[in-house]
Amino acid sequence: MTGPERSLTKTRPNEPCWCGSGRKYKRCHRAMDQARSVRAPTRRSDQPERRRIQKGVVGPRRAVPETIPRPDYAETSIPKRHAGRHVVRNDDARERMEKACWAAREVLDTVLAAVRPGITTDELDAIAHEEYLRRGGYPSPLNYHGYPKSLCTSVNEVICHGIPDDTVLETGDIVNCDVTIYLNGVHGDCSETVVVGEADPRTQQLVAVTRECLLRGIETVRPGGKIREIGRAIEAHATRFGYSVVRSFVGHGIGPGFHMDPQVPHYYDAQFRDEIVPGMTFTIEPMINLGTWRHVMWDDDWTAVTADLQLSAQFEHTVLCTDRGVRILTQSPDQEQPFEG
Ligand code: MF3
Ligand code: CO
Ligand code: CO
Repeated sequence: MTGPERSLTKTRPNEPCWCGSGRKYKRCHRAMDQARSVRAPTRRSDQPERRRIQKGVVGPRRAVPETIPRPDYAETSIPKRHAGRHVVRNDDARERMEKACWAAREVLDTVLAAVRPGITTDELDAIAHEEYLRRGGYPSPLNYHGYPKSLCTSVNEVICHGIPDDTVLETGDIVNCDVTIYLNGVHGDCSETVVVGEADPRTQQLVAVTRECLLRGIETVRPGGKIREIGRAIEAHATRFGYSVVRSFVGHGIGPGFHMDPQVPHYYDAQFRDEIVPGMTFTIEPMINLGTWRHVMWDDDWTAVTADLQLSAQFEHTVLCTDRGVRILTQSPDQEQPFEG
């Protein structure tokens, strides 16, 4: 990580930004540098040196057999509008959501078990891809608004939507693996962040607290409750540790469509008065940062990194509001449901 040498005078407006986003400096960090709203990353002597994540080489698109049912955007890249919130009204719809979500959990667990120093994020994508197909599912990310891969792998300062490539994971890294499967006509979506090899206590704490944030958010869900309570609980927990909550990416309704209403912010905003009703299925997926909540988008238009290049962690579940509380759909069916009432 470079320090003072990348000063204002060094980068010209039309030159590539010092942060590696691939964008022109004037369209990236210039305003932040001038306002000093986001401090340049400087190495603290008590912190280990960490490489900056850079764009790698993205391999060719993986094929999906014709026999596997595809979502509407698989060929066109443009999803059709799915009106309103998805409410699971009958046992059939509920079972289809459950099965898709369990399959997503199994795919994710297989990917996470493969994480080790020396593996590339594209090798993780290959594992995920095969696991989706083995279950008769389509990898929901593939060609969604043109996304080129079957998995999202977000390493260190990458907040979300990291594209698997030839980046080699190193000990001390953290990586979020985000799996979404399309199975039985519905999507199931979950993610976890894991440490690669061993990490310092500060990194471990960020990951542990982010997992807690997800559970604190889920815990607030109840019939007649409000969407805004989720973000209120998450933000309260994150700020206790001095962390920030990402505001530009939110949880979402999910079902026949990948991203549906409602939006689920992970921070408190009084305007999100939507009432939660039994049968609603949506994700909660807090992204929690060591430093600023602001992001910079790489010129691939997918990879979102923290503006100050400090670490970001994320955990995600798909949940169902039941008559009695909330059911975590993307946990293993053998595991006890913590908040079902
Ligand atoms: N799985 C991500 C989410 O939690 C979305 C990934 S969209 C993709 O909403 F196109 F990047 F795959
Ligand atoms: Co999601
Ligand atoms: Co996801």
